[in-house]
Amino acid sequence: MKDMRTVITGQLPASPPPPSGEFGEVRIPAPPTPLSRERLLEEVRGATAIVSTLNDRIDAEVADAAGSGLRVVANVAVGYDNIDVSALQDRGVIVTTTPGVLTDATADLTMGLLLSVTRRLGEGERLLRSRAPWTFELGFMLGTGLQGKTLGIVGLGQIGRAVAHRARAFGMNIVYTSRRRAPEQVEETCDAVHLSFEELLRTADVVSLHCPLIPQTRHLIDAQSLANMKPTAYLVNTTRGPVVDEAALAEALSAGQIAGAGLDVFEHEPEVEPRLLGCDNLVLSPHLGSATKETRNAMTQLAFDNVRAVLRGDDPLTALP
Ligand code: DGY
Repeated sequence: MKDMRTVITGQLPASPPPPSGEFGEVRIPAPPTPLSRERLLEEVRGATAIVSTLNDRIDAEVADAAGSGLRVVANVAVGYDNIDVSALQDRGVIVTTTPGVLTDATADLTMGLLLSVTRRLGEGERLLRSRAPWTFELGFMLGTGLQGKTLGIVGLGQIGRAVAHRARAFGMNIVYTSRRRAPEQVEETCDAVHLSFEELLRTADVVSLHCPLIPQTRHLIDAQSLANMKPTAYLVNTTRGPVVDEAALAEALSAGQIAGAGLDVFEHEPEVEPRLLGCDNLVLSPHLGSATKETRNAMTQLAFDNVRAVLRGDDPLTALP
């Protein structure tokens, strides 16, 4: 414990309380957070453990700034595109993430966006707040029902599966695509049919993205993919912004090439492509996928449990291979 130091880069949710004792000296940098690159490099100096968020780029430079005592980086997220995993592992640093505990919250938010965009809830809310006159009419602000429609899931991992289960309850048919076909038993429980990416784009009434951001998925949804979707189809993205080419999406939405989109994540977070903001057929939320009190506490707790295990010399619970 002597000389150990745990650095937590972001503000914590109200509970669980920050770790103490076996975590050595615990440093939670004063606001403002997210830390600038300069402050991050400064704050991690001498760290044995870093508890990071997706705002922090954790790479060789950060590991070297921390020094040779760094043993673990616990990312409070399931995604880890902010981490240069091989640079850390080359230095013997264990990297952990928080899978599982945010699956339900993220799947719930996906359904929220899906319903919001197909039932035009954002447009309706904007109309009322603008105090523009309106009356109930049989043809007023009609959306699209989900019953019998096809949901195309890109990436049938834990979150993709949880979305499939929810969408089945709404009467949707499920198709999916992923790098590796899911085991038969998963296909059966999700009632999901495997298609190629191109087939899925052509078939789905809603395309929902649940793949990780890796070089092969950057701009997976580009002008060509959008052109391959049905003009009546919707796109939902709750994974990582750069999976979608936002300029191409803005173009497709304003041209009516697809019916609408729901986005929780953005290509250059926290910036949002200005042309998207002018699209009425778009529902936006500010990266809220895992943002429930229960889930953020569970994510933080899991990150702390991982740090504790590594510092004790035990196996971490959710380390990256
Ligand atoms: C994640 O965990 O990767 C989410 O985007 C943030 O909770």
